[in-house]
Amino acid sequence: MTRAKFITFEGVDGAGKSTHLAWFTETLRQRGIDVLLTREPGGTPLGESLRRILLHEAMHPETEAMLMFAARREHLEQIILPALECGTWVISDRFSDASFAYQGGGRGVPVAKLEQLEKWVQGELQPDLTLLFDIPIEVARERLANNSSLDRFEQEQAEFFQRVRQAYLQRAAKMPQRFAIIHAEKTLEDVKKELSLIVANI
Ligand code: TYD
Repeated sequence: MTRAKFITFEGVDGAGKSTHLAWFTETLRQRGIDVLLTREPGGTPLGESLRRILLHEAMHPETEAMLMFAARREHLEQIILPALECGTWVISDRFSDASFAYQGGGRGVPVAKLEQLEKWVQGELQPDLTLLFDIPIEVARERLANNSSLDRFEQEQAEFFQRVRQAYLQRAAKMPQRFAIIHAEKTLEDVKKELSLIVANI
């Protein structure tokens, strides 16, 4: 039997990753794989409390980065590592790449500081596979426009999301072996086809 895998979903708000998460998870389950679906920030009671603060209260960008990684430490300890050790696959809706994209690219926190937090919180651990839903920002924003209750991140300007998108792509270029870039502006069916190919090769 293959070792349990740790898979993350990433992308700017409005890229449509959440729509595909459920389908992807279900497809793995149909193959008889035991899968745990979780999210960041969140995934634990403390993490969900931190999520409410992070999504709604103004704070310094470095405070934001440290709280994201604090929630992650708890998530790893309580949920992700125990599941992987038991042979359960873990799919997380966002992980550390989001901190490099949003706090690094979006808010301008220096990458070196984020790398220190990354090392502290997760050591050498990285996801086995990261699906990056990449999309032109104008298209992502059109999709968000129908949503009436936008959080603190979703309310940011287009330039913020341009920086987030670029930081995600830079991160993918740095670690190409674990990233699969999904062209998320395509139709739902075409995106599903891209995902099917990935599932088939896992
Ligand atoms: P998201 O999964 O997009 O929530 P929803 O689909 O319910 O809107 O994530 C919430 C926000 O948190 C998102 O805008 C990105 C942000 N975020 C960071 O800024 N840094 C991080 O490290 C993580 C995990 C998320």
